Amino acid sequence: MSLRYLINFDSGAIQYEKFDVIIIGSGIAGLYSAIHLHDDLSVCIISKESIGENNSYLAQGGIAAAVTEEDQPEYHFDDTIKAGAGHCDEAAVKVLVNEAPVDIQTLCNIGTRFDRNPDGTLTTTREGGHGRFRVIHALGDATGKEVIDSLISECKKRTNIKIIENCFAVDILTINNKCTGILVKNNTNIPEESQLKIYHSRKIICASGGIGQVYKNTTNTEVITGDGIAMAFRAGAQLTDMEFVQFHPTAFYKKADNENSFLISEALRGEGGILRNINGEPFMSRYHEMGEIAPRDIVSRAIFSEIKKTNSEFVYLDITHKDSEHLRNRFPTIYNRCLKADIDISKDYIPVVPVQHYFMGGIKTDLWGRTSIEGLYACGEAACTGVHGANRLASNSLLEGLIFGRRCAEDINSSISESSFDENIIINTAAQISQAADIDIVSIRNEIKQIMNDYAGIERNEADMKNAAQRLESIIRLLESIELGTVYVMETINIAYIAALILKSAINRKQSIGSHYRTD
Ligand code: SIN
Repeated sequence: MSLRYLINFDSGAIQYEKFDVIIIGSGIAGLYSAIHLHDDLSVCIISKESIGENNSYLAQGGIAAAVTEEDQPEYHFDDTIKAGAGHCDEAAVKVLVNEAPVDIQTLCNIGTRFDRNPDGTLTTTREGGHGRFRVIHALGDATGKEVIDSLISECKKRTNIKIIENCFAVDILTINNKCTGILVKNNTNIPEESQLKIYHSRKIICASGGIGQVYKNTTNTEVITGDGIAMAFRAGAQLTDMEFVQFHPTAFYKKADNENSFLISEALRGEGGILRNINGEPFMSRYHEMGEIAPRDIVSRAIFSEIKKTNSEFVYLDITHKDSEHLRNRFPTIYNRCLKADIDISKDYIPVVPVQHYFMGGIKTDLWGRTSIEGLYACGEAACTGVHGANRLASNSLLEGLIFGRRCAEDINSSISESSFDENIIINTAAQISQAADIDIVSIRNEIKQIMNDYAGIERNEADMKNAAQRLESIIRLLESIELGTVYVMETINIAYIAALILKSAINRKQSIGSHYRTD
C-alpha cells in the first residue's frame, strides 16, 4: 500500500492548462512519440530538468537493428530471446525486430547522422549477446547525444508541441481508473505559491525513464529516480517484472562514492576488448562460450566472481591492441574521459566494475503502450512491454523507445476522438502535514541506495532481502508521515517505493533467471 497522492491539494483551486496529450519525460521514447502524434493535437512534453538531461542522451553503444545484408530480423529475434533467458514476450519481440529498420530510416530522414562506411551504408558494431554486427551508432560512441539532439530539433519545428522544462510530475490524476491529467511542481527556486499546477489532458504518455538512483552505483543520471513508475503505481497501474534489474558489466571503477559511474561501452568488447582479472589473466572463456560478448548478466556475474576470488575491487578491460588513433576516432568520449583519469586506453588497462544500468520491469503495457489505466500509456524504460525478458540484449533499449513510443502515438491518433477532457475536481487530504525539519532526507536516500546495492544486486538471497524489505517498510512509513514539500523529498519517497517493490518481487521469485540471480 502507498499514499494515493503525495501531497494534499484541491484541483479546483490550482492554476491549470489543458493539452490533448501530456508526455512525461524527454528521452528518446517521449520525443519520438511526440513527433508521431497528429499535428492537430496539442502536445506538451514535460522534462524534470533541462530537456537533454536524461539517460538516452548518455547512450554510447547504439541502436540494434537488422539493417545489413547479412542480417535479418529473425536473427535479431533469436538473440533477443536468448539474452532474455526465456522470459520475453515473443509477440512484443517480433514487433521490435520487424519494425526496427523503418524507425531507423525515420531517424535518418529527420537528420540523425549515424556513422557510415565509405560506401554510404550504416556502420555496425557488435555487443554482448549479438550473434551478428547490427548495432548502429553515431559520433563514434555518443549515439544518444546525436539522436536526442535531432529529435529535440524536430520537436521544436512542430507548432503543436510545447516543451516545459524544470517541471516535476508529482502525480497522475485519475477518476474511476481513467487518467484526467497530472499534478506538477515547478522544479526551480521560484516562490512557493506559483509552484503547483495541473495539466488536464485526454491522454498521458509516461516516458519518464528507469530507476537508476535507487542504487548506490549506477550509470544513470541524477534525474532518474523512478518517478513515473512510482506515480503509476500510486494511481493503481499494473507493474510487472520488478525484480529484473540489469547491471552493466563495465563501468569505470571509481574510488569516490559521490559521482555516477561512467560507462565503458560494451562495443569495446564487441570490437576485441579483453577482460582480465587483477592478476592480468583473461577469464571470460571459463564462464561462457561467447567469452567477452556473452549476454550482460553472465558477464556481470563472471566479473563479480573474479573480483571476489581475487579479493579486489575491479577487473580490467584491455583494448591496448588497438592503436591510439583508431581508439580516439572510434571511441572519442571514452578515450577522453579515461584520459582525464590518467588512463590512456591505447596503453593502459581500464579498471572496470559492474553497476546498475537498466530496468527491465516497469509499468505493464500491451503492444500499443496501453496500461491498465484508461488513457495512460507508457513507453521506454518506464514501461515493461515484455521485449527484454529477464535480461535486456545490448542496444535494444533505444530501439524499444522508438518502436513503442511511435506505437503509443499511433494508438492515440486513432482513438483520441473518443475521449474528452475530465475536469472534475479532485481533493486530497490524506497526506500527512508534520514538519520534515528534523529528518535527514539525504541520509535516508543514501541508506536506501546502499541497501539496494548490498541486498538487491547481482546476487541475492531471501534472508537478506527480507531484512532489507523490513527496513524499507519502516523508511516508507517515516517518509509518509512527513510533509513531502520539496522535489528532493518526493523523489526520495518514489525511490523508497520502487526499492520496496523490487525487493518484494525478488523475494517472490524463488528461482534464478537472467538478471535475477539467487544464491539460496
Ligand atoms: C553500452 O554501450 O555498452 C550500453 C548500451 C546499452 O545499454 O544497450
